[in-house]
Amino acid sequence: MTSSDAVTPLPSQRHLFDIPGDVAFFNCAYISPLPKASLAAGEEGVRRKARPWTITPADFFTTSEGVRALFAGLINTSADDIAFAPAVSYGMAQAAYNIALARSQAIVTLAEQFPSNVYPWMDLAERSGAKFVSVPRPADDDWTAALLARIDGSTGLVAVPHCHWTDGGLVDLDAVGAACRRVGAALCIDATQSVGALPLDVKRIDPDFVAVASYKWLLGPYSLGFLYVAPRRQGGRPIEHNWMARRDSEDFAGLVNYKDEYQAGARRFDVGERSNFALMPVVEASLRLISEWTVPRIQATLSLRTNAIAERAHAELGIGSVPSHRRAGHYLGLRFAGGIPPELPERLAASKVYVSVRGEAMRVTPHLWNTDEDVDRMFAVLRTAVVTRG
Ligand SMILES: Cc1ncc(COP(=O)(O)O)c(C=O)c1O
Repeated sequence: MTSSDAVTPLPSQRHLFDIPGDVAFFNCAYISPLPKASLAAGEEGVRRKARPWTITPADFFTTSEGVRALFAGLINTSADDIAFAPAVSYGMAQAAYNIALARSQAIVTLAEQFPSNVYPWMDLAERSGAKFVSVPRPADDDWTAALLARIDGSTGLVAVPHCHWTDGGLVDLDAVGAACRRVGAALCIDATQSVGALPLDVKRIDPDFVAVASYKWLLGPYSLGFLYVAPRRQGGRPIEHNWMARRDSEDFAGLVNYKDEYQAGARRFDVGERSNFALMPVVEASLRLISEWTVPRIQATLSLRTNAIAERAHAELGIGSVPSHRRAGHYLGLRFAGGIPPELPERLAASKVYVSVRGEAMRVTPHLWNTDEDVDRMFAVLRTAVVTRG
Protein backbone atom coordinates (compact mmCIF):
# COMPACT_ATOMS: atom_id res chain seq x y z
CA MET A 1 0.00 0.00 0.00
CA THR A 2 1.39 3.45 -0.89
CA SER A 3 0.90 6.50 1.33
CA SER A 4 -1.65 7.84 -1.17
CA ASP A 5 -3.97 4.84 -0.62
CA ALA A 6 -4.38 5.68 3.05
CA VAL A 7 -6.19 9.01 2.65
CA THR A 8 -9.45 10.23 1.14
CA PRO A 9 -9.22 12.10 -2.17
CA LEU A 10 -10.40 15.72 -2.29
CA PRO A 11 -13.36 16.96 -4.34
CA SER A 12 -12.70 19.50 -7.14
CA GLN A 13 -11.40 22.84 -5.82
CA ARG A 14 -11.90 24.67 -9.11
CA HIS A 15 -14.11 27.29 -7.47
CA LEU A 16 -11.04 28.54 -5.59
CA PHE A 17 -9.29 29.43 -8.88
CA ASP A 18 -10.10 31.91 -11.63
CA ILE A 19 -10.12 29.39 -14.50
CA PRO A 20 -12.65 29.88 -17.34
CA GLY A 21 -14.93 26.90 -18.00
CA ASP A 22 -13.47 26.27 -21.47
CA VAL A 23 -9.84 26.05 -20.24
CA ALA A 24 -8.44 22.59 -19.48
CA PHE A 25 -5.18 23.41 -17.67
CA PHE A 26 -2.94 20.37 -17.13
CA ASN A 27 0.30 22.28 -16.76
CA CYS A 28 1.02 22.78 -13.06
CA ALA A 29 4.63 21.64 -13.67
CA TYR A 30 5.02 24.72 -15.91
CA ILE A 31 3.36 27.51 -13.87
CA SER A 32 0.38 27.00 -11.55
CA PRO A 33 -2.52 29.44 -11.52
CA LEU A 34 -2.74 31.54 -8.35
CA PRO A 35 -5.65 30.69 -6.07
CA LYS A 36 -8.16 33.58 -5.78
CA ALA A 37 -7.21 34.02 -2.10
CA SER A 38 -3.52 34.39 -3.01
CA LEU A 39 -4.35 36.91 -5.75
CA ALA A 40 -6.34 38.99 -3.25
CA ALA A 41 -3.46 38.81 -0.75
CA GLY A 42 -1.05 39.96 -3.45
CA GLU A 43 -3.26 42.90 -4.45
CA GLU A 44 -3.32 43.95 -0.82
CA GLY A 45 0.46 43.40 -0.58
CA VAL A 46 1.22 45.66 -3.56
CA ARG A 47 -1.18 48.29 -2.24
CA ARG A 48 0.79 48.57 1.01
CA LYS A 49 3.70 50.10 -0.90
CA ALA A 50 1.42 53.00 -1.86
CA ARG A 51 1.06 53.73 1.87
CA PRO A 52 4.48 53.06 3.37
CA TRP A 53 3.54 54.72 6.64
CA THR A 54 1.46 51.58 7.33
CA ILE A 55 4.58 49.36 7.14
CA THR A 56 6.24 49.01 10.55
CA PRO A 57 9.75 47.70 11.29
CA ALA A 58 8.15 44.56 12.78
CA ASP A 59 6.45 43.91 9.41
CA PHE A 60 9.87 43.30 7.86
CA PHE A 61 9.99 40.07 9.87
CA THR A 62 6.58 38.79 10.91
CA THR A 63 4.91 37.59 7.69
CA SER A 64 8.07 35.90 6.43
CA GLU A 65 8.57 34.10 9.75
CA GLY A 66 5.04 32.70 9.48
CA VAL A 67 5.72 31.61 5.90
CA ARG A 68 8.94 29.92 6.93
CA ALA A 69 6.97 27.85 9.45
CA LEU A 70 4.23 26.99 6.94
CA PHE A 71 6.76 25.74 4.41
CA ALA A 72 8.71 23.85 7.10
CA GLY A 73 5.51 22.00 8.03
CA LEU A 74 5.28 20.59 4.51
CA ILE A 75 8.64 18.84 4.78
CA ASN A 76 8.48 17.80 8.46
CA THR A 77 10.89 20.28 9.96
CA SER A 78 10.87 23.62 11.80
CA ALA A 79 11.14 27.24 10.63
CA ASP A 80 14.75 27.48 11.82
CA ASP A 81 15.86 25.13 9.01
CA ILE A 82 14.38 27.25 6.21
CA ALA A 83 15.94 30.11 4.23
CA PHE A 84 14.36 32.22 1.48
CA ALA A 85 15.83 31.75 -1.99
CA PRO A 86 14.27 33.50 -5.02
CA ALA A 87 15.17 30.64 -7.37
CA VAL A 88 16.45 27.08 -7.25
CA SER A 89 19.65 28.34 -8.90
CA TYR A 90 20.12 30.72 -5.92
CA GLY A 91 19.54 27.94 -3.37
CA MET A 92 21.94 25.62 -5.16
CA ALA A 93 24.53 28.42 -5.34
CA GLN A 94 24.36 28.63 -1.53
CA ALA A 95 24.79 24.85 -1.33
CA ALA A 96 27.67 24.75 -3.84
CA TYR A 97 29.48 27.53 -1.96
CA ASN A 98 29.40 25.39 1.17
CA ILE A 99 30.35 21.96 -0.14
CA ALA A 100 34.05 21.19 -0.42
CA LEU A 101 35.06 18.41 -2.81
CA ALA A 102 38.41 16.85 -3.64
CA ARG A 103 39.69 16.07 -7.15
CA SER A 104 39.26 12.36 -6.44
CA GLN A 105 35.54 12.75 -5.73
CA ALA A 106 32.49 12.69 -8.00
CA ILE A 107 29.24 14.66 -8.25
CA VAL A 108 26.34 12.41 -9.29
CA THR A 109 23.28 13.79 -11.15
CA LEU A 110 20.58 12.38 -13.46
CA ALA A 111 20.52 12.75 -17.24
CA GLU A 112 18.26 15.56 -18.52
CA GLN A 113 17.95 17.08 -15.06
CA PHE A 114 16.63 20.66 -14.83
CA PRO A 115 19.55 23.09 -15.49
CA SER A 116 19.29 24.95 -12.14
CA ASN A 117 20.38 21.69 -10.48
CA VAL A 118 23.12 21.05 -13.04
CA TYR A 119 25.05 24.26 -13.79
CA PRO A 120 26.02 24.93 -10.14
CA TRP A 121 27.53 21.44 -9.99
CA MET A 122 29.32 21.72 -13.32
CA ASP A 123 30.83 24.91 -11.92
CA LEU A 124 31.79 23.18 -8.65
CA ALA A 125 33.34 20.32 -10.64
CA GLU A 126 35.38 22.82 -12.63
CA ARG A 127 36.52 24.67 -9.49
CA SER A 128 37.33 21.57 -7.43
CA GLY A 129 38.49 19.18 -10.12
CA ALA A 130 35.81 16.68 -9.03
CA LYS A 131 34.25 14.46 -11.71
CA PHE A 132 30.75 15.33 -12.97
CA VAL A 133 28.63 12.20 -13.52
CA SER A 134 25.26 12.16 -15.29
CA VAL A 135 23.41 8.86 -14.77
CA PRO A 136 21.89 7.84 -18.16
CA ARG A 137 18.11 7.47 -18.45
CA PRO A 138 17.33 3.81 -17.56
CA ALA A 139 15.33 1.85 -20.15
CA ASP A 140 13.09 0.44 -17.38
CA ASP A 141 12.45 3.90 -15.81
CA ASP A 142 14.03 2.75 -12.52
CA TRP A 143 16.02 5.90 -11.71
CA THR A 144 16.58 4.75 -8.12
CA ALA A 145 18.42 1.55 -9.06
CA ALA A 146 20.42 3.36 -11.76
CA LEU A 147 21.42 6.08 -9.28
CA LEU A 148 22.27 3.72 -6.40
CA ALA A 149 24.55 1.77 -8.74
CA ARG A 150 26.64 4.95 -9.22
CA ILE A 151 26.98 5.90 -5.54
CA ASP A 152 30.22 4.56 -4.05
CA GLY A 153 33.17 5.54 -1.88
CA SER A 154 34.28 8.16 -4.43
CA THR A 155 30.94 10.00 -4.39
CA GLY A 156 31.22 13.40 -2.72
CA LEU A 157 27.81 14.78 -3.67
CA VAL A 158 24.51 13.52 -5.07
CA ALA A 159 22.39 16.29 -6.61
CA VAL A 160 19.01 15.02 -7.80
CA PRO A 161 15.29 15.81 -8.00
CA HIS A 162 12.51 13.93 -6.22
CA CYS A 163 10.85 13.19 -9.54
CA HIS A 164 12.11 13.84 -13.06
CA TRP A 165 10.74 17.09 -14.47
CA THR A 166 10.16 15.63 -17.95
CA ASP A 167 7.88 12.72 -17.07
CA GLY A 168 7.56 12.30 -13.28
CA GLY A 169 10.05 9.39 -13.05
CA LEU A 170 10.43 8.88 -9.29
CA VAL A 171 13.61 8.79 -7.21
CA ASP A 172 13.33 6.91 -3.89
CA LEU A 173 14.96 9.55 -1.70
CA ASP A 174 14.86 7.37 1.43
CA ALA A 175 17.13 4.85 -0.32
CA VAL A 176 19.34 7.57 -1.83
CA GLY A 177 19.65 9.34 1.54
CA ALA A 178 20.71 6.08 3.19
CA ALA A 179 23.28 5.43 0.44
CA CYS A 180 24.72 8.95 0.83
CA ARG A 181 25.06 8.49 4.58
CA ARG A 182 26.78 5.13 4.06
CA VAL A 183 29.51 6.63 1.85
CA GLY A 184 29.65 10.07 3.51
CA ALA A 185 28.36 11.97 0.44
CA ALA A 186 26.38 15.22 0.62
CA LEU A 187 22.82 15.17 -0.75
CA CYS A 188 21.21 18.18 -2.50
CA ILE A 189 17.63 17.88 -3.73
CA ASP A 190 15.69 20.05 -6.16
CA ALA A 191 12.14 19.36 -4.97
CA THR A 192 10.44 22.02 -7.10
CA GLN A 193 8.40 19.42 -8.96
CA SER A 194 7.28 17.59 -5.84
CA VAL A 195 6.97 19.58 -2.58
CA GLY A 196 3.36 20.61 -2.15
CA ALA A 197 2.05 17.58 -4.06
CA LEU A 198 4.22 14.66 -2.91
CA PRO A 199 5.23 14.07 0.72
CA LEU A 200 8.93 14.72 1.40
CA ASP A 201 10.27 14.13 4.91
CA VAL A 202 13.67 15.69 5.61
CA LYS A 203 13.87 13.93 8.98
CA ARG A 204 13.84 10.55 7.23
CA ILE A 205 15.87 11.44 4.11
CA ASP A 206 18.40 13.66 5.93
CA PRO A 207 19.54 15.76 2.93
CA ASP A 208 22.05 18.61 3.26
CA PHE A 209 20.06 21.11 1.16
CA VAL A 210 16.63 21.08 -0.52
CA ALA A 211 15.68 23.88 -2.92
CA VAL A 212 12.06 24.52 -3.94
CA ALA A 213 10.61 27.17 -6.28
CA SER A 214 7.09 28.12 -5.21
CA TYR A 215 5.40 28.95 -8.52
CA LYS A 216 4.47 25.38 -9.42
CA TRP A 217 3.21 22.85 -6.83
CA LEU A 218 3.21 25.42 -4.01
CA LEU A 219 0.76 27.53 -6.06
CA GLY A 220 2.86 30.56 -5.17
CA PRO A 221 4.35 33.56 -6.99
CA TYR A 222 7.37 33.64 -9.26
CA SER A 223 10.72 34.57 -7.64
CA LEU A 224 9.95 33.53 -4.06
CA GLY A 225 11.20 30.09 -3.09
CA PHE A 226 12.79 28.16 -0.25
CA LEU A 227 15.99 26.44 0.79
CA TYR A 228 16.04 23.78 3.50
CA VAL A 229 19.44 23.72 5.22
CA ALA A 230 20.31 20.77 7.45
CA PRO A 231 21.33 21.80 10.99
CA ARG A 232 24.86 20.48 10.31
CA ARG A 233 25.18 23.05 7.48
CA GLN A 234 23.81 26.05 9.37
CA GLY A 235 27.26 27.29 10.42
CA GLY A 236 28.15 27.81 6.72
CA ARG A 237 29.05 30.96 4.81
CA PRO A 238 26.31 32.67 2.76
CA ILE A 239 26.97 33.89 -0.80
CA GLU A 240 25.68 37.39 0.03
CA HIS A 241 25.58 39.50 3.15
CA ASN A 242 22.37 41.33 3.92
CA TRP A 243 21.57 43.32 7.03
CA MET A 244 18.50 41.28 8.00
CA ALA A 245 20.48 38.06 8.32
CA ARG A 246 22.68 39.51 11.08
CA ARG A 247 21.89 39.28 14.80
CA ASP A 248 19.62 42.00 16.28
CA SER A 249 18.60 43.32 12.84
CA GLU A 250 15.15 43.95 14.36
CA ASP A 251 16.72 46.99 16.07
CA PHE A 252 16.74 49.48 13.18
CA ALA A 253 18.42 52.17 15.27
CA GLY A 254 21.35 49.84 15.97
CA LEU A 255 21.98 48.53 12.44
CA VAL A 256 25.37 50.22 12.15
CA ASN A 257 26.58 48.39 15.23
CA TYR A 258 27.81 45.80 12.74
CA LYS A 259 27.57 42.25 13.98
CA ASP A 260 29.66 39.19 13.17
CA GLU A 261 26.88 36.90 14.38
CA TYR A 262 23.91 35.84 12.29
CA GLN A 263 20.23 35.30 13.01
CA ALA A 264 19.44 31.76 14.20
CA GLY A 265 19.38 28.62 12.08
CA ALA A 266 19.24 28.81 8.29
CA ARG A 267 18.38 32.54 8.27
CA ARG A 268 21.96 33.50 7.37
CA PHE A 269 21.21 32.07 3.90
CA ASP A 270 18.14 34.28 3.33
CA VAL A 271 18.17 36.37 0.15
CA GLY A 272 18.35 40.13 0.73
CA GLU A 273 14.99 41.97 0.94
CA ARG A 274 13.27 38.73 1.87
CA SER A 275 10.40 40.64 3.50
CA ASN A 276 8.97 41.05 -0.03
CA PHE A 277 5.81 42.93 1.02
CA ALA A 278 4.05 42.30 -2.29
CA LEU A 279 4.69 38.58 -2.74
CA MET A 280 5.13 37.22 0.79
CA PRO A 281 1.36 37.41 1.52
CA VAL A 282 0.72 35.57 -1.77
CA VAL A 283 2.84 32.57 -0.86
CA GLU A 284 1.41 32.67 2.66
CA ALA A 285 -2.16 32.32 1.35
CA SER A 286 -1.14 29.51 -1.02
CA LEU A 287 0.74 27.57 1.67
CA ARG A 288 -2.26 27.90 3.97
CA LEU A 289 -4.48 26.30 1.34
CA ILE A 290 -2.03 23.43 0.77
CA SER A 291 -1.70 22.88 4.52
CA GLU A 292 -5.49 22.73 4.85
CA TRP A 293 -5.86 20.23 1.99
CA THR A 294 -2.75 18.35 3.22
CA VAL A 295 -0.09 17.00 0.88
CA PRO A 296 -1.07 13.31 1.28
CA ARG A 297 -4.65 14.13 0.18
CA ILE A 298 -3.38 16.19 -2.77
CA GLN A 299 -1.14 13.29 -3.79
CA ALA A 300 -3.97 10.76 -3.42
CA THR A 301 -6.31 12.90 -5.54
CA LEU A 302 -3.79 13.60 -8.29
CA SER A 303 -2.64 9.95 -8.38
CA LEU A 304 -6.18 8.86 -9.14
CA ARG A 305 -6.37 11.49 -11.88
CA THR A 306 -3.07 10.64 -13.61
CA ASN A 307 -3.62 6.88 -13.29
CA ALA A 308 -7.03 7.21 -14.94
CA ILE A 309 -5.53 9.32 -17.76
CA ALA A 310 -2.62 6.88 -18.25
CA GLU A 311 -4.93 3.86 -18.36
CA ARG A 312 -7.36 5.52 -20.76
CA ALA A 313 -4.55 6.75 -23.03
CA HIS A 314 -3.21 3.22 -23.22
CA ALA A 315 -6.54 1.46 -23.65
CA GLU A 316 -8.12 3.85 -26.18
CA LEU A 317 -5.10 5.13 -28.09
CA GLY A 318 -2.15 2.83 -27.37
CA ILE A 319 -0.21 5.70 -25.73
CA GLY A 320 2.38 4.68 -23.10
CA SER A 321 3.86 6.30 -19.98
CA VAL A 322 6.22 5.58 -17.06
CA PRO A 323 4.58 2.71 -15.07
CA SER A 324 2.66 4.09 -12.07
CA HIS A 325 4.97 2.50 -9.45
CA ARG A 326 7.97 4.27 -11.03
CA ARG A 327 6.50 7.79 -11.28
CA ALA A 328 5.21 10.44 -8.89
CA GLY A 329 1.42 10.26 -8.64
CA HIS A 330 0.86 13.92 -9.57
CA TYR A 331 2.92 13.71 -12.76
CA LEU A 332 2.51 12.02 -16.13
CA GLY A 333 4.50 11.98 -19.36
CA LEU A 334 2.57 10.39 -22.26
CA ARG A 335 4.78 8.63 -24.79
CA PHE A 336 3.65 8.24 -28.38
CA ALA A 337 5.00 5.35 -30.46
CA GLY A 338 6.61 7.12 -33.41
CA GLY A 339 6.90 10.43 -31.57
CA ILE A 340 4.53 13.33 -30.93
CA PRO A 341 1.93 13.62 -33.75
CA PRO A 342 3.01 16.60 -35.91
CA GLU A 343 0.09 18.95 -35.26
CA LEU A 344 -0.63 17.95 -31.66
CA PRO A 345 0.71 21.11 -29.94
CA GLU A 346 -1.31 23.39 -32.28
CA ARG A 347 -4.49 21.31 -31.90
CA LEU A 348 -4.21 21.32 -28.12
CA ALA A 349 -3.68 25.08 -27.98
CA ALA A 350 -6.60 25.69 -30.37
CA SER A 351 -8.85 23.70 -28.04
CA LYS A 352 -7.53 25.48 -24.91
CA VAL A 353 -6.04 22.27 -23.56
CA TYR A 354 -2.79 23.19 -21.84
CA VAL A 355 0.00 20.64 -21.40
CA SER A 356 3.74 20.74 -22.09
CA VAL A 357 5.20 18.95 -25.06
CA ARG A 358 8.80 17.98 -24.31
CA GLY A 359 10.78 15.93 -26.83
CA GLU A 360 9.03 12.56 -27.19
CA ALA A 361 6.67 13.06 -24.25
CA MET A 362 3.54 15.08 -23.56
CA ARG A 363 3.68 16.19 -19.92
CA VAL A 364 0.30 16.15 -18.16
CA THR A 365 0.37 17.71 -14.69
CA PRO A 366 -3.10 18.22 -13.22
CA HIS A 367 -4.17 19.73 -9.91
CA LEU A 368 -7.29 20.06 -7.81
CA TRP A 369 -8.88 22.50 -10.31
CA ASN A 370 -9.14 19.80 -12.98
CA THR A 371 -12.44 18.08 -13.68
CA ASP A 372 -13.58 14.99 -15.59
CA GLU A 373 -14.75 17.36 -18.35
CA ASP A 374 -11.19 18.70 -18.69
CA VAL A 375 -9.99 15.13 -19.20
CA ASP A 376 -12.65 14.47 -21.87
CA ARG A 377 -11.60 17.64 -23.71
CA MET A 378 -7.97 16.52 -23.72
CA PHE A 379 -8.90 13.08 -25.04
CA ALA A 380 -11.02 14.58 -27.80
CA VAL A 381 -7.88 16.35 -29.11
CA LEU A 382 -5.61 13.35 -28.58
CA ARG A 383 -7.99 11.06 -30.44
CA THR A 384 -8.13 13.34 -33.49
CA ALA A 385 -4.34 13.74 -33.52
CA VAL A 386 -3.61 10.02 -33.19
CA VAL A 387 -6.36 8.89 -35.59
CA THR A 388 -5.41 11.50 -38.22
CA ARG A 389 -1.86 10.22 -38.16
CA GLY A 390 -2.91 6.54 -38.01
C1 LIG B 1 12.83 20.73 -11.64
C2 LIG B 1 12.84 22.21 -11.72
N1 LIG B 1 13.63 22.91 -10.89
C3 LIG B 1 13.70 24.26 -10.91
C4 LIG B 1 12.94 24.98 -11.81
C5 LIG B 1 13.04 26.48 -11.78
O1 LIG B 1 14.38 26.85 -11.52
P1 LIG B 1 14.74 28.33 -11.09
O2 LIG B 1 13.98 28.60 -9.83
O3 LIG B 1 16.22 28.29 -10.86
O4 LIG B 1 14.35 29.23 -12.21
C6 LIG B 1 12.10 24.30 -12.70
C7 LIG B 1 11.29 25.03 -13.69
O5 LIG B 1 10.74 24.47 -14.62
C8 LIG B 1 12.06 22.89 -12.64
O6 LIG B 1 11.25 22.18 -13.46
